[in-house]
Amino acid sequence: MELRAVKGMNDILPDEAARWQRLEQAFREHVARYGYDEVRTPILEHTALFSRQIGETTDVVEKEMYSFARHGDELTVRPEGTAGAARAYVEHKVHTKEPVSRWSYLGPMFRGERPAKGRYRQFYQAGCELYGDAGPLADAEMIEMILSLLNQGLGIGNIEVRLNSLGAAGTRARYRDALVAYFTPMKDKLSEDSQRRLEKNPLRILDSKDPRDREASKGAPSILELLDEADAAHFAGVRRHLDALDVRYIVDPTLVRGLDYYTRTLFEFVTTSGDLGAQSTVVGGGRYDNMIEGLGGPSVPAIGFAMGIERLLTLMPGEVSRERPAVYVAPLSDACTSRALVLGRDLRARGVRVEVDGRGGRLKAMLRRADALGAKFCVILGDGELERGVASVKDLAGHKQDEVPLADAADVLAARARAEASPPPGEAR
Ligand code: HAM
Repeated sequence: MELRAVKGMNDILPDEAARWQRLEQAFREHVARYGYDEVRTPILEHTALFSRQIGETTDVVEKEMYSFARHGDELTVRPEGTAGAARAYVEHKVHTKEPVSRWSYLGPMFRGERPAKGRYRQFYQAGCELYGDAGPLADAEMIEMILSLLNQGLGIGNIEVRLNSLGAAGTRARYRDALVAYFTPMKDKLSEDSQRRLEKNPLRILDSKDPRDREASKGAPSILELLDEADAAHFAGVRRHLDALDVRYIVDPTLVRGLDYYTRTLFEFVTTSGDLGAQSTVVGGGRYDNMIEGLGGPSVPAIGFAMGIERLLTLMPGEVSRERPAVYVAPLSDACTSRALVLGRDLRARGVRVEVDGRGGRLKAMLRRADALGAKFCVILGDGELERGVASVKDLAGHKQDEVPLADAADVLAARARAEASPPPGEAR
């Protein structure tokens, strides 16, 4: 049997990992400027956490979770990061330590969706959650933070911000009733899923990709007309702050998103470049002011977002090449190998990236390898060099070769490697 990776789960080989690292570093540096610090929560959580917080009638909970029973626990491999972070916030009573917490995370999530370009069963999200600030400033600041990360931090243009408000729990209930009243007369024109969910969760119909549901949703009532005064004031505040920040957005009253925990502000960032086909949503998020209390904590408002790293990488311009060794050490005989290892260790202790060729064999093959890796210098250690107490150093770009005393080799090479890494201004590398 040929063993392959599980369908929808991808290997990221070192050639690609350099781009991942660049994106991850840009994310971490950017959100740190807004006060976010990393949280790491387990990949496995009790199934009830997700089914209650995300919602029993959502696609994620109904169809996509990887759930299993083991050692007496019902467990699920996390399909997203928000519920686990909120669970940790409540469990560690973080609200007693500080009034406002800003958490970020980055890691794999798992959903058994049908794989397609930009849609995987293991995918990576980078996200942030902000607890303890109910005001519209938090919403606007978060949206601006995401947009500037995409535009300036990652060089991704062609992004549209879509914005909506679901209001608080009371508004959702009223909207639910309005949608049931609207969809019921056309029930048999809806998809099977939507017919089944009509009573329980009609908001899902607005989020459905099925063409029958899309058609039926066209004249659906707008939630923005049902917002109460406080919700409407909050939404107006978010918009005012976004205008002040020069963030352009589109108010989309049909935006409901696939998770049930949201209240008030909802947003999505969508690429208009066409590169991702149907998977054009690169970031999703919103307010979920009731989750902390729902998990047995105090009444603490919250807002957050997550971005799909694979999707952003598809849009991120530029090649990122792998780091190259500064020095390649080529021992030409058994007798030289130990000395080569020692030189490698001493160079690394001086901060130099080094590879020592342990394959044995001919110098020609070793030089070819040093070239292929893009090393700056190749240190040749043969029996003759060892006898004279020197190392031959070949400058691979300059095609010059000289000898340095073995005793000084680590210091001399480390200095040369540093000089190569930071050429004087104006000089090409
Ligand atoms: P979400 O909309 O389910 O929200 O996912 C956020 C982003 O993750 C999506 O916009 C997409 O870029 C990426 N994504 C989702 N599913 C897949 C998949 N199967 N393959 C590749 N990428 C995917 C959440 O997960 C919420 N926890 C966001 C949030 C945080 N809301 C509040 N705080």
